[in-house]
Amino acid sequence: MGRRVGILTGGGDAPGLNAVIRAFVKRGAGQLGWDVVGIEDSFDGLMDRPRRVHHLTPVSCQGLLHRGGTILGTTNRGDPFAFPSADGPRDRRRDLVEGVKAEGLEGLVVIGGDGSQAIGLRVMEELGIPVIGVPKTIDNDLSATDLTFGFQSAVDVATDALDRLHTTAESHDRVMFLEVMGRDAGHIALHAGLAGGADVILLPEIPYDPHEVAEKVRRRKARGRPFSLIVVAEGALPAREDGSAVPHDQVKPRLKRGGGAAAIAMAQLEGLVDAEMRHTVLGHIQRGGSPVPFDRILATRFGVAAVDLVAEDRWGEMVRLQNGKVGGVPIREAIATYRLVDVHGEMMRTARAVGVEFGERG
Ligand code: F6P
Repeated sequence: MGRRVGILTGGGDAPGLNAVIRAFVKRGAGQLGWDVVGIEDSFDGLMDRPRRVHHLTPVSCQGLLHRGGTILGTTNRGDPFAFPSADGPRDRRRDLVEGVKAEGLEGLVVIGGDGSQAIGLRVMEELGIPVIGVPKTIDNDLSATDLTFGFQSAVDVATDALDRLHTTAESHDRVMFLEVMGRDAGHIALHAGLAGGADVILLPEIPYDPHEVAEKVRRRKARGRPFSLIVVAEGALPAREDGSAVPHDQVKPRLKRGGGAAAIAMAQLEGLVDAEMRHTVLGHIQRGGSPVPFDRILATRFGVAAVDLVAEDRWGEMVRLQNGKVGGVPIREAIATYRLVDVHGEMMRTARAVGVEFGERG
């Protein structure tokens, strides 16, 4: 009997999800003759079958390589162990087990970030449903893989935004703040900032001193460059006297989902610099649209590698890229550590060497 495997996308979307699905289906269904079942909205579709599960074929997956988003839909709230409902979290693990059984699935391929991978691991260990993980996040903060697809696309969008802000900043002699995604890790800010020639990059990893930032802006002005570009990761916060970050709820305007860090940084510089300031929040524009070629290729490699892991019965592993090679790593190991920007790493050294200011004290 042929294999029958489910595939789902969980957490926030990222450019390249469809390319993974397409590659998995082309290889698994098209070449190996497996039944591939697409599940809508993370694990939710299995708890609401048959309406929200679909047989996927190479024909039904045509035209997906360049398409952003995910044809399967996604959610970051559909945890079967604590399913959100009006009366509080519900335990829906029985629905999930029944869904898997009714669909005759031997296992699930979970394409998602650390949250979805952690749920996948519980599904495997506590419910006995075999799972293979495929990492996804535009934040590139999963330590087990050198890169995730979606990251380069997000950096591309953020760099383009910086290029656009550059010309208007220069025309008006303004200080422009660009807020990019990255609640906990500042990889997008660092990479886009470097690519877009930012003068200052504010990261969640380094609580910043507004006086250091202002000093950089003033020095530029004194050198005949009366405009500055400041990239702000959405998790970046000013420092207290002891160097630790001011807690989110103590800075005004309050940092909330959907922006705030750039506005806070701009407010912190008020009175310290003699220039007009403006801020832009890039938000979900970084997550939408077509993946760049690098992400299409990486996503395709990940999709084919996921088929390989299933074929070799390496359930409990997650696909990863390590030193240029795609392979597998136990999911438990993959979600154990989170990758922040290494503030002493080579990227940071390079940025400092070309004069980028991070708002560090002293
Ligand atoms: O983890 C990916 C990410 O895009 C973060 O960079 C961002 O903080 C978050 O998701 C936004 O989540 P949501 O789409 O739920 O607003």
